[in-house]
Amino acid sequence: MRECFEVRTVDAGGRIGELSVPRAGTTIETPVLLPVINPHLDTLLPRRLADEFGAEALITNAYIFHGSEDFRERALEDGLHDVLDFPGVIMTDSGSFQLAEYGEIDVTTEEIIDFQASIGSDIATPVDIPTPPDVPRDRAESELETTRERLELAASIETGDMLVTAPVQGSTYPDLREAAGAHAAATTLDVFPIGAVVPLLNEYRYADVVDVVAAAKRGLGTDAPVHLFGAGHPMMFALAVAMGCDLFDSAAYALYARDDRYLTVRGTRHVDDLEHLPCSCPVCLEHGADGLASLPDDRRETALAAHNLHVSFAEIRRIKAAIRAGNLLELVDERARAHPAMLDGYRALLDHADQLERTDPASKGTFFYTSHESAHRPEVRRHHDRLDRLSVPDRLFLSQSGDDPLEPYDETWRVVPPFGPFPRALSKSYPVNAEVPDRTDRSAIEAAARGVKRLVEENPETSVGLGHEGWPRDVLESLSDRVELVDQSGAD
Ligand code: GUN
Ligand code: ZN
Repeated sequence: MRECFEVRTVDAGGRIGELSVPRAGTTIETPVLLPVINPHLDTLLPRRLADEFGAEALITNAYIFHGSEDFRERALEDGLHDVLDFPGVIMTDSGSFQLAEYGEIDVTTEEIIDFQASIGSDIATPVDIPTPPDVPRDRAESELETTRERLELAASIETGDMLVTAPVQGSTYPDLREAAGAHAAATTLDVFPIGAVVPLLNEYRYADVVDVVAAAKRGLGTDAPVHLFGAGHPMMFALAVAMGCDLFDSAAYALYARDDRYLTVRGTRHVDDLEHLPCSCPVCLEHGADGLASLPDDRRETALAAHNLHVSFAEIRRIKAAIRAGNLLELVDERARAHPAMLDGYRALLDHADQLERTDPASKGTFFYTSHESAHRPEVRRHHDRLDRLSVPDRLFLSQSGDDPLEPYDETWRVVPPFGPFPRALSKSYPVNAEVPDRTDRSAIEAAARGVKRLVEENPETSVGLGHEGWPRDVLESLSDRVELVDQSGAD
């Protein structure tokens, strides 16, 4: 168990956790969103973030303070909390972003970690190398080696009670991401940002983001607090949380506002294209669509930034509620309809159902079947994996309609797509007590058939009958010849 992080409630790979930040003398509940503050801009002041939005933490770039004559001296003298006027947790980045954007920076890890400590940062970051996606493998490997050396260096610096992050790089190579995660987790460092995903996010490559996070998480293990660096669009928070990300930083709220763009959990709209506002935050209630579009430039930017942030914080609260209720995957499913690339992300998440299944609780709120994708959820997989624990009679009938067979069998079990077979005694238990549509679909039937197949394979001595309601021929043909088929679709 890492000392600074405690997982409280889990759903799929997502969790509610507590990150204690000793230097700030406080604990923050995760998932948490840290708004990005640039001290040179004052769209939304940190004090307003705390008082009006309830922001408990923010992130700023130590490199900007380091390179600014004015801010540098004030930060060293008065500390970041005073300079920014923010009472909560302040995390700092190191300048690696500038490294990625402009190719070089003029500070070393030692210097910038010392500097972050001196200006009163609560969570500091070494100078990792954000290797972009799709680079040749030897570049990803050699840059990762440099990042590792810097993490080890950072771990060896005496930083008092300041937390220090260990960014995980490795480009789009899952094995490198996994190895980087394992290495980072083995250091004494505290928080684990997954780096260099911004180019993937900018290109809507959510499936690749999911694969990168899944790989890093395999190395990091389940008790490490994970930050997804640079992920600030609320549309993808639920997906990222379901993969096991705990911290987010958003520059998006301000960057999109500057371009007159209005964030929603279903995507981004230009303010001029809005006739009605799908939001009841104070900004939207006050101005309405026309009012917002006709504000003078600077006021419109601030108003949009405030709305964008309200939407982002609201989504984080919605995600926490979903984790507590055990319906995070239903929320991810809903968000996946916002954009085909999000659907790809959700499908990629379900490709990792095995990995999610390991943390998913055995029992939670009722499973809702809300799309074809639901058939691939970890709960379905687990039900199939556990069929071998059930004892079966010599002659077993599996009944979708619930009707008993005409022929003599020793016992009748229910068959409910997507789960497949289970004894009647379990019908009130999670997950087979699911809410499923009366009009089922092919994905659910295929999943149910996989369940039947597993049960038949695991019980070679048992004669099995299957009463199904008009399953497609090819699905039925995929079952063993040993299964006696009865079409129950005409039955009342
Ligand atoms: N901000 C966005 N991506 C990154 C990254 O990979 N490393 C650091 N240090 N900051 C980032
Ligand atoms: Zn709003």
